[in-house]
Amino acid sequence: MWGGGINSKSLRERCPVINFNWLGDERGKLVVIEGGITIPFEIKRVFYIYDSDRDVIRGRHANKISDFVLVNAAGESKLRLTDGHEEIVTELNRPMMGVYIPPMIWKDMYDFSEDSVLLVLASTHYDNSEYIRNYDEYIRLINSK
Ligand code: TYD
Repeated sequence: MWGGGINSKSLRERCPVINFNWLGDERGKLVVIEGGITIPFEIKRVFYIYDSDRDVIRGRHANKISDFVLVNAAGESKLRLTDGHEEIVTELNRPMMGVYIPPMIWKDMYDFSEDSVLLVLASTHYDNSEYIRNYDEYIRLINSK
């Protein structure tokens, strides 16, 4: 079902924090994320967001079919998620943590530190038509399911 509506799972249960293992030795740390193993989908697209000022709000959309995992590979940012009913805010501030976001969850990213590099792993290739960029339309869609 869509992310909203009557759902027995909390928003946090549907959008869990994933703690990745890091492999470290005297040379530094290494984080490995494998599609279908460490995260619950095969990765088709990777992009990263950097050089966003602290007062910028990015995202501001939901996706009809894409799953995402967001990781601040460097620096920090905040991630606000809502399904139109609940809202959760997560501080992305460690390279070994990510948040999984299934389809039909509204997301905003903000409070970017100067050194923030926000890595995004996606289950789909880019398709603008699966983005819902109007919040009222998003609420209409989740309430119609
Ligand atoms: P946008 O979705 O606004 O980024 P954010 O998730 O940070 O809010 O995307 C910015 C621009 O980049 C927009 O014109 C669409 C384009 N874009 C792609 O072409 N491919 C992609 O995978 C992404 C994420 C964006």
